[in-house]
Amino acid sequence: MNYGYFDDENYEYVITDPRTPVKWVNYVGDLSFGGLVDHTGGSLLCAGDPAINRITKYIPQLPASEPKGQWMYLKVTRNGESRLFSPFYTPTLDPYTRYECHVGLGYQRIISEFYGIECSCTIFIPDGGQQEIRDVRVRNLNREPVKLEWTPVVEFTHFEALKQFTNADWVPQTMQCKAEMREDGSVLIRQYPFMRQDRQHNFVTTNLPAQSFQTDRSKFLGNHEYATWQHPRELDEAFLSNYQALRGDNIAAIRHDLGDLQPGQEKRMILQVGQADAGKVSEVTEAFRDPEAVDRAFDDLKTFWRDYLSVFRCETPDPAFDTMVNIHNPRQCFMTLNWSRYLSLYQLGLGARGMGFRDTSQDILGAVAHAPARCKTLLRKLLSVQKSDGSAMHQFNPLSMEANEGDAREEGEKLTYGDDHLWVVLAVCDYLKETGDQAFLDEEITFYDKKLPLEARSRATVREHLTRAVTYTRAHTGAHGLPLLGFADWNDTVNLPGDAESSFIACLYGRALLELIELMEFHGDKSAALTYRAWHAEMAETFHQAAWDGEWYIRYFTEEGDPIGSHRCDKGKIYTNAQSWAVLAGFAPADAAQQALDAVHTHLNTANGIKLSTPGYDRFDPKIGGVSTYPPGAKENGGIFLHSNPWVMIAETMVNRPERAYQYYSQINPATKNDCMEIYECEPYCYAQNILGDEHPQFGLGRNSWLSGTASWTYQAATRYILGLRAGYGGLVIHPKLPSDWENVTITRVFRGATYHFRIRSEKGDVSYQPKVVVDGEAITGNTVPVFAAGTVHEIEVTCARTLRVPAYEIEEEVK
Ligand code: NOJ
Repeated sequence: MNYGYFDDENYEYVITDPRTPVKWVNYVGDLSFGGLVDHTGGSLLCAGDPAINRITKYIPQLPASEPKGQWMYLKVTRNGESRLFSPFYTPTLDPYTRYECHVGLGYQRIISEFYGIECSCTIFIPDGGQQEIRDVRVRNLNREPVKLEWTPVVEFTHFEALKQFTNADWVPQTMQCKAEMREDGSVLIRQYPFMRQDRQHNFVTTNLPAQSFQTDRSKFLGNHEYATWQHPRELDEAFLSNYQALRGDNIAAIRHDLGDLQPGQEKRMILQVGQADAGKVSEVTEAFRDPEAVDRAFDDLKTFWRDYLSVFRCETPDPAFDTMVNIHNPRQCFMTLNWSRYLSLYQLGLGARGMGFRDTSQDILGAVAHAPARCKTLLRKLLSVQKSDGSAMHQFNPLSMEANEGDAREEGEKLTYGDDHLWVVLAVCDYLKETGDQAFLDEEITFYDKKLPLEARSRATVREHLTRAVTYTRAHTGAHGLPLLGFADWNDTVNLPGDAESSFIACLYGRALLELIELMEFHGDKSAALTYRAWHAEMAETFHQAAWDGEWYIRYFTEEGDPIGSHRCDKGKIYTNAQSWAVLAGFAPADAAQQALDAVHTHLNTANGIKLSTPGYDRFDPKIGGVSTYPPGAKENGGIFLHSNPWVMIAETMVNRPERAYQYYSQINPATKNDCMEIYECEPYCYAQNILGDEHPQFGLGRNSWLSGTASWTYQAATRYILGLRAGYGGLVIHPKLPSDWENVTITRVFRGATYHFRIRSEKGDVSYQPKVVVDGEAITGNTVPVFAAGTVHEIEVTCARTLRVPAYEIEEEVK
């Protein structure tokens, strides 16, 4: 069963049935102004911060049929008979002749047909704009003329998002609306809480003369009747009452008489919903009253996305792979970069989270090739919430830059996550490789200290920040010599008391050291490189000695020295991350690496993806913490936590088993789930964070789409490891690890301003062999294609080896 199709030519997914199992959303704008828009036009908008500057009232937990921040009504009168309906299907739920929601790059276009009226509404935010635009066109498809009325509606929330739900005294007494009738007949509605009357105003306006307006919800619905949003009573009256609400539930409903539409006749209307300084509202709204300005802004948006995607394009034999890698996955990477885990239908942006330190560090890895300047800005923010001892704050508010310790605050004693600070090492090194901006290493950035004002905080170079990150981990180890867990590591939900140890952090530290070794060698700092090599070797030894369990690696040790993720455990016998990261860190000896990854395949893999651990904990156990609050098969408790899957894909390419890497890639590719939505339920055009595992009766159900590290890491797995093209300090390194039936692949990559066209041909052979590379007709030594001048174009022929789709022992035969 499906709800739509991929339209790659137009870079869209088209939803053809509005009754999706859950709300399917898209993002518009960015954190400075933007939010999410769902498949029936609902929108959750904010400016700068969803917790403290929210605009529309969208309550994700309400059913999809309820109003969600914004919607609109059309009233069509034909032969004296009137019908009121929503061109977005909700909230009126009329039968439709046609419904399409085009999920585009940074825009949503809903095209529908009800009662012979075609309506197209394109929703987007102009680059740098302070408003959401709804570019609406209605057309009369009937054979006779019709009379049409159009009433867009916005429901406001208090700017402090949580207060809207927790303070039913202060909030309603302070919300106010004011309307200005403009000379051209249009109306401009301003909305603000009393304390902001001279500051920011939310606004709603259109480019047409208004017939009347309403700003009070109960008056619009019908004061003395139990009316619903399906049929607001005031729309039965000749006019809305032009009431300017000075308290209560504020809305902006603007009714327009579009007059008679002849058969085939079309009308275009522009709606703006935004926020600006009180004195600037007129100026800000003026810019987009002109439909041509709207057209230009929409063209600019398309140009932005064309440029963004042009950085990496591939053509492989697998259309579902190409769809994700060329369009939807990099788009998701950009959205996660913008929103971290702050605002989605699952992460409600009510104030508890902010941006995550480890999350944003990983998001940078997925977007750095496409949006390096944004990544640099974020890197500065991240490094400024690192503490002078090298560890990091867990979360921060992007506007105030106040940081906090995340859920660790609940525990009280251990306020540090053992892993956060190490992720930023990976992010900085990736930024340097991608851009060549080595001067960034010398830039000075302050360390975080809650008690000191910014000017009084100590500062150090970026290079020193990185040094302190690894030094912190080296200095904080436990009884086995493995790094201390702190409150938690990547797995937020395993919270062990006392000096528990984490083998995952050991591996992340190893990976960070590998990055620093490469960086120091590039800069000719042999002594630092040697030191880091020694630290790496030391931890590799400690890790293998302490954590090897016979067939796989142990995930944690409790303070008492008991293993978690061991064959000796009753539940949670094996954890995926200890296996994949042992390879990513370069810690696992070759045979152990293969064995550990085989154990993942045997014990953790399912048709819907790799589980995080197994078997699930079957009751709450305070000694292990949050993980055991979930039933077996859900989320971190034996669920398919998708973020961890690409780490296994990457590890499989590293041990030269591309078939498995590709199998793991395909089994979680949401595009392949388009036709089994009765089970999966989530958007097929972006990754979900989790799928219920096989211990759960609803095995295969996806949840928590969009904002997940899965986006960044699947993109890296596909582009850098399966296709094998990654940025290095000295150029683009190419080593594809292709499945055996991929004979030809092409890639276009823009790197430091130059364009590289790769034509990759694979031959039977051992994938571990370096490919042969010919650059502009000349064979090169090695597999690093050099950096070329910006603006130049280069042709690269690559011949690589591939395995065959047969068991490993037969491959060896074949290779001989
Ligand atoms: C979601 C969090 O945002 C992320 O930081 C964490 O690594 C995963 N949960 C796994 O617990």
